[in-house]
Amino acid sequence: MSVEEPFPREINYLRVSITDRCNLRCFYCTAWGTWEKLPAPEILRYEELLRIAAVAPKVGIRKIRVTGGEPLVRRGVVDFIQALHEVPGLEEVCLTTNGVKLQELAQALYDTGLRHLNLSLDTLERDRYLKITGSDNFLEVMAGLEKAAALGFNPLKINCVVLNGINDDELLNFALLTRDYPYQVRFIEFMPTVDPERWAHHFLPMAEVRRRLKVLGPLEPLEPEGTAGPARIFRLPGFRGDLGFISSVSDHHCPTCNRLRLTAAGRLRPCLFAGQELDLKVPMRQGATDELLASLFQDAIRLKTCESGYRSLDSPLPGRAMVSIGG
Ligand code: 5AD
Repeated sequence: MSVEEPFPREINYLRVSITDRCNLRCFYCTAWGTWEKLPAPEILRYEELLRIAAVAPKVGIRKIRVTGGEPLVRRGVVDFIQALHEVPGLEEVCLTTNGVKLQELAQALYDTGLRHLNLSLDTLERDRYLKITGSDNFLEVMAGLEKAAALGFNPLKINCVVLNGINDDELLNFALLTRDYPYQVRFIEFMPTVDPERWAHHFLPMAEVRRRLKVLGPLEPLEPEGTAGPARIFRLPGFRGDLGFISSVSDHHCPTCNRLRLTAAGRLRPCLFAGQELDLKVPMRQGATDELLASLFQDAIRLKTCESGYRSLDSPLPGRAMVSIGG
């Protein structure tokens, strides 16, 4: 396949950022005060998000992940997730959270029917958590994780961004979580989304992560699900949970990318690493029909080419912190 050709695959997965606000300031994502918050009227209202969610299955979307910013800081999020479960044609609703408010909201979220939960957690040490995130919320997050596990969220995935010299001495501890708990621990390569110098200093390639985990035993590959993302999934013999590896930088995964992103400002982004965005908000607020919205989705799908992905350090950066695009 030449790089200019559009993807021949099914694009079935939409990541929806419902807010650009976040209650953490993670070292690798953003820093205090470095991004401009959208004025409230610029953020899509829940009715608008639900309208888009209802159009999306008409162009093949079967899975929606609610993200942010931090989605659980937006008021009304539980009712929104409940409503998403009622959208015809959507087969999977998932949530990515940093877990700060999980303990408080886990039961209500579970009661909406939500089962797929991704928790961002980059360290298992309280002091370090404070250094990475700027907030002393480690104990709340761990309590949230325990509560979610006890309620029966499944799959329950833990996303760990590997940061050389910051948390790379915890790789074994993270992997060992899957011996005792049925979690999927996913190691994610640090992407150069904010500061290239910081990135160069703290990037650790996934091949090295895997090499360091060899002491735990042979990794048995598992088959990905139909709407699965770029993670390669493995299990260690006798372990209860799985390990996932996401090499967004060293092994650009364009050929398996099945996703679109909707920013909190209502723009469809075909690719994290391509600057292009297609506005849905303005047409929608000017009375666009469902057919027009569906055709804008089709345009975004056509704009997904293998050329756009992150290829090398010369590739364009997303230009904005993940918090404002949607992690
Ligand atoms: N590199 C890798 N992952 C990142 N995330 C945010 N910024 C980066 C980055 N620069 C991750 C968060 C979360 C997910 C939504 O995106 O840790 O797990």
